[in-house]
Amino acid sequence: MGRVADLMNEWGKALGLPKKQRRRWKAAAWLHDSVKEEAPAELRKVLRGRLRLLPDNVVHGPAAAALLRRDGVIDEPLMQAISYHTLGHPMFETIGLALYAADFLEPGRRSRKKWRAELRERAPEDMDGVVHEIVGARIRFLMKKGRPVRPETIALWNVGAEGEAWVRASAV
Ligand SMILES: [Fe+2]
Repeated sequence: MGRVADLMNEWGKALGLPKKQRRRWKAAAWLHDSVKEEAPAELRKVLRGRLRLLPDNVVHGPAAAALLRRDGVIDEPLMQAISYHTLGHPMFETIGLALYAADFLEPGRRSRKKWRAELRERAPEDMDGVVHEIVGARIRFLMKKGRPVRPETIALWNVGAEGEAWVRASAV
């Protein structure tokens, strides 16, 4: 989480974000995996409806957001960033795009190091393009393994491929 926070802080600085916004970005980084070690069955208890059906490996995002909401946090773009940091979401604001990208690109990840370094470098000036490239890679990976791809993930891909207006008009 520290590496994700450092990366988001670096990008925030490169984008010239004011200190207050950078603090928000860092909060997203420090909180996104805050309940990752808890049992998925326990985490599902704080979720409602369809979110309870999410697979074990992604349930920690929505659960962290639900607990923060319960504690009175009302920053929706931040909650959405945390909720969907693994799956992606077509309605992400910049904080959501940045967390999604930083979680995937943080320098501790071992595979495809050169590619990740290039994307890290490019991210501040081309966050949309970088996120699109990551979503494409994740979708290809899931398909290769014969695993399902969530509609939110496909919809995030479509935002980059077809333009936001088309996706929002036809989505969800
Ligand atoms: Fe996570």
